[in-house]
Amino acid sequence: MTDLLSLPKDRIRVLLLEGVNDSAVDLLRAAGYTNLTYLKTALDEDELRAAIQGVHLLGIRSRTQLTQETFAAADRLIAVGCFSVGTNQVDLDAARLAGVPVLNAPFSNTRSVAELTLGEIIMLFRRVFPKSTSAHAGGWDKSATDSHEVRGKTLGIVGYGNIGSQLSYLAEAMGMRVIFYDHTDKLRHGNTEPTANLQDLLSQSDVVSLHVPETPATHGMIGAAEIASMKKGAFLINNSRGTVADLEALAVSLKSGHLRGAAIDVFPVEPASSKDAFHSPLQGLDNASSPHPTHRCLHPRGSREDWGGSCQEAHRFLRCRLNDRRCKLSAGSTAPPTSGHKTHSHPSECAWYAGAPQPSVLATRSQHHGAALADRQRSRLCGYRGGRRPHAEPESS
Ligand SMILES: NC(=O)c1ccc[n+]([C@@H]2O[C@H](COP(=O)([O-])OP(=O)(O)OC[C@H]3O[C@@H](n4cnc5c(N)ncnc54)[C@H](O)[C@@H]3O)[C@@H](O)[C@H]2O)c1
Repeated sequence: MTDLLSLPKDRIRVLLLEGVNDSAVDLLRAAGYTNLTYLKTALDEDELRAAIQGVHLLGIRSRTQLTQETFAAADRLIAVGCFSVGTNQVDLDAARLAGVPVLNAPFSNTRSVAELTLGEIIMLFRRVFPKSTSAHAGGWDKSATDSHEVRGKTLGIVGYGNIGSQLSYLAEAMGMRVIFYDHTDKLRHGNTEPTANLQDLLSQSDVVSLHVPETPATHGMIGAAEIASMKKGAFLINNSRGTVADLEALAVSLKSGHLRGAAIDVFPVEPASSKDAFHSPLQGLDNASSPHPTHRCLHPRGSREDWGGSCQEAHRFLRCRLNDRRCKLSAGSTAPPTSGHKTHSHPSECAWYAGAPQPSVLATRSQHHGAALADRQRSRLCGYRGGRRPHAEPESS
């Protein structure tokens, strides 16, 4: 059936930019996509407009900007694979109007963040961060004062989505009591319990971990008043988005001793590159851990890779998953290439996220934008305009 819908694989042109990992190239070639161009760098807008002509599948990371003009120049494009968690680098409205699905891998690093958070919880309770700093400075602090096991302590998770729920599994396995607050009804995993509101969660938790997206409602969600209502001696972790917690208020609380420690992986303002200086009100506080920010790459439009989710397994998962989905799509599949859940960020992402448990890519597009778009997609692959043909015809090269 798929043979009737698509060009032979070796005629499907693939363009991979920004030096996506070699294994992505290997996986595509092994799947029969040999008509492949691989560039180590991003292209500027003019270069990209020229390079994209005749390309069916485009793979990018976060530097390539796909604008309305890019989509207008893309005469054969059937899918874009973003080798990233987000899709901020793509004008999704332009992609939608052009009928091009944009694929990303929103939970490729879910586990990585959950694991890092659990590690931070243990290190905060055991005071590993100040002891390590002291040892580097020649100190020898073997005292057990204020060092505790996590077993029996209460973890409060704000945002019980992909990462929050993964974290709850890990924390319960360590013997923690887990409560969560989410603004929507959520399936409770294990023995976790929802709280009626954020205030309830803050007043009960020995450690609070934030896992909400960046929205107007979560902007400044944890400010001075919320921190003051946390238990004395509690810890705060923010591995979600920099705008969710007020770092000035956090620094005041850490200095006063109301909160005992914090681990922060995301900041409201971050350096654009490793050459720029990093500034934070938490600098100099040995009870606040901030994974080295230069591991992050911040794009001018906000697309980036956070340290918390950045590890080898997450990157490998991302490559495999995207390639699998693009291959199925280009082979004419109208079923979701892989199962999955909706992505967390831009609302329009959901409509274009081919892995979501929703109608097929082509069917979804038909519902939203009319059957003409689905037909346009087929014509890009098969070289015909509408109607049903028994065999795909090679397109003119
Ligand atoms: N540090 C990193 O490296 C890294 C990596 C991946 C994701 N993230 C960030 O982690 C966060 C969570 O990611 P996820 O994949 O679990 O997302 P998700 O969409 O699966 O979960 C977010 C949860 O927050 C809830 N929520 C949204 N607004 C809320 C509000 N105002 N009050 C209460 N609950 C609210 C949602 O209902 C949802 O259950 C996101 O901000 C994401 O950008 C960070």
